[in-house]
Amino acid sequence: MSSDDCSGSCPLARRAFLKDVSLFAAALAAAGLAPRGASALPQPIRALSRERAEVRYPIPAKDGVRFDDENEVILVRFGGRVYAMLLSCPHQNTALKLDPAGSGGFYCTKHESRYKPSGEFISGRATRNMDRFAIRRDGASVAVNLDVYFESDSEPTQWAAAMITV
Ligand code: FES
Repeated sequence: MSSDDCSGSCPLARRAFLKDVSLFAAALAAAGLAPRGASALPQPIRALSRERAEVRYPIPAKDGVRFDDENEVILVRFGGRVYAMLLSCPHQNTALKLDPAGSGGFYCTKHESRYKPSGEFISGRATRNMDRFAIRRDGASVAVNLDVYFESDSEPTQWAAAMITV
């Protein structure tokens, strides 16, 4: 994932930063160099736990799109499937919008990339499909793991499987 345009402020960049801090602290501890009071440091590993990183949404009753700006998720029901995709364009992380052409897909205002409702790339400067979060059914809800997402060019099998059927 590229975080070129996040400037350290998007949640994915923060997670990467917290992970780096955690690994650094673990390396210090392993080397016997942990500073006094290290136990009072934040607990990023716990914050990164899968359980806390999951968000749940009701399974959409019909085809449509829900933007969750806080978690940077686009939830889509389309063609008997539900997808949870990253809000940011895979090219340079610009927030995607509904395609104003009315296709039901998505549009990037920065370099005019277009995507189908399922996240498949149609045209523009991007070089892959929209990234998809890991998703699972949980009763009448879908659970989306905000720490796990797949890029279609490097993880095509996982990307294709990142959906539920309804
Ligand atoms: S940032 Fe979306 S196409 Fe460039």
